[in-house]
Amino acid sequence: MALLRNSSIFLCLIAVTYSASVDNYENSKVQLEEYIQNKRNDINPRFRPLYHVAPPVGWMNDPNGFSYHNGEFHLFYQYYPYDSVWGPMHWGHSVSPDLVNWKMLPTALLPEEEQCFSGSAISDGDTMILMYTGHAITDVEPHFNQSQYLAFSDDGVNFHKYEGNPVIPISPNGSPDFRDPKVWKRGDDYYVIIGSKTLDDRGRVLLYKSRDMINWEFLNVLAESKGDLGYMWECPDFFELDGKFVILMSPQGMAPQGDRYKNTFQNGYIIGSFDYDTNEFVEEVPFQEIDYGHDFYAATTTEENGKRYVVAWYSMWEVPHPEDVDGWAGAMTIVREMSIVNNRILMKPVEAMVNLRDGVAADGDVESNEVLEFGKAVELLIDSDLNQKVDILFDGSEGGGKVRLSWNPENRKVVVDRGAGDVREVVWSPFGSHTWRVFLDSSSIELFCGEGEVVFSSRVYPLGEWRMVNESPQALRVKAYNLRRSVPE
Ligand code: FRU
Repeated sequence: MALLRNSSIFLCLIAVTYSASVDNYENSKVQLEEYIQNKRNDINPRFRPLYHVAPPVGWMNDPNGFSYHNGEFHLFYQYYPYDSVWGPMHWGHSVSPDLVNWKMLPTALLPEEEQCFSGSAISDGDTMILMYTGHAITDVEPHFNQSQYLAFSDDGVNFHKYEGNPVIPISPNGSPDFRDPKVWKRGDDYYVIIGSKTLDDRGRVLLYKSRDMINWEFLNVLAESKGDLGYMWECPDFFELDGKFVILMSPQGMAPQGDRYKNTFQNGYIIGSFDYDTNEFVEEVPFQEIDYGHDFYAATTTEENGKRYVVAWYSMWEVPHPEDVDGWAGAMTIVREMSIVNNRILMKPVEAMVNLRDGVAADGDVESNEVLEFGKAVELLIDSDLNQKVDILFDGSEGGGKVRLSWNPENRKVVVDRGAGDVREVVWSPFGSHTWRVFLDSSSIELFCGEGEVVFSSRVYPLGEWRMVNESPQALRVKAYNLRRSVPE
């Protein structure tokens, strides 16, 4: 009897403690939203994007949980609201009807004993399930552990963490680097891939399967570096595209090779085939960078209406983030639609980007040395004679950062040059259109060449508004549109 009484007191205590911690968590969420609303007034708007998702205040890195649920696209992100540098990770949250107009929602996940590292989402009927990495600090070397957590939502706004977390406590080889789950459903089965490394520091992707999202069976290593693709693969993704299977990942630790792999960390993909009976992936086309610009990392995809969309962190690790003195840092790229042609992933801005056009800003020939003046958000369609040089300078009407786009018909390279040797370049062999489609925002430039076979995404920080100077020896044909705002200020 005494035993029964003691154990029921004990159960009561657990229940009280549990509901107290739920209350604390809910209170912290309310306080955080108040903090964000107040702090927004202190932001300097000079570099704030008009049509790229950016954190309302504080720091943003990887896109997370990119998904379509109950009629809306959801885009979560690694978020630290209290400073414009990386800190204990939360999940910020934006939604959009069309991948172009974005609304901000309350912060979806707050760190507790675990930081909420990158992960993914699935729409399961009316429930949205997030799977993310819980990053916990430990007393023993290497002083952290990473395991996989779940959170659920019935309304797509409020998320509660699963009480039985973590659902995958350790990696198969014991490596603490075990993160960024990407989950999908096929028939009645759930699958997840997770980024990790071998014990001799080669990046790899691990494949798991489950019937209920809770109990996971490790199937195999989907792919791993033979030594040439870095020491750790972050943010893996895996999907079917145009009859092929693609592993998209962000390898850390690849050495630069000529023009390639010049960013701090890389983002690229391997094309191959996959068999759901054997769970074997066979590589057919080796690793290629997906975007050739300075600022593109942790890309992640989702599928809707038979289209595969990709978005990436529009920034990079271990580089200056000039907007941080303004109270925020980091952004997302515009969303692109993917396809495979000639063994390469093409990226095109989603069709709905044309809905941002708000009047023609220029239309006609732009002579050598002619200057055009624009606002802060512009789209340009540029046609040139590719047998001659192209050299276009974009700078700020009041100075600040500049960027030069050029084409050299001799080596057939497109070059994006931010000055002082900060150059990205690649050979371009257009197989269709020769047009350059350029998106300028308050602190960024995205260049889509031709059909999207070569794309550069780079941040650049002009002061004032955008100017364009045609420094080419030839006249260029330019059609430009002002773009309207599609994200919160
Ligand atoms: C990639 C990454 C992920 C990790 C997250 C932490 O940029 O390092 O591997 O989950 O950022 O913020």
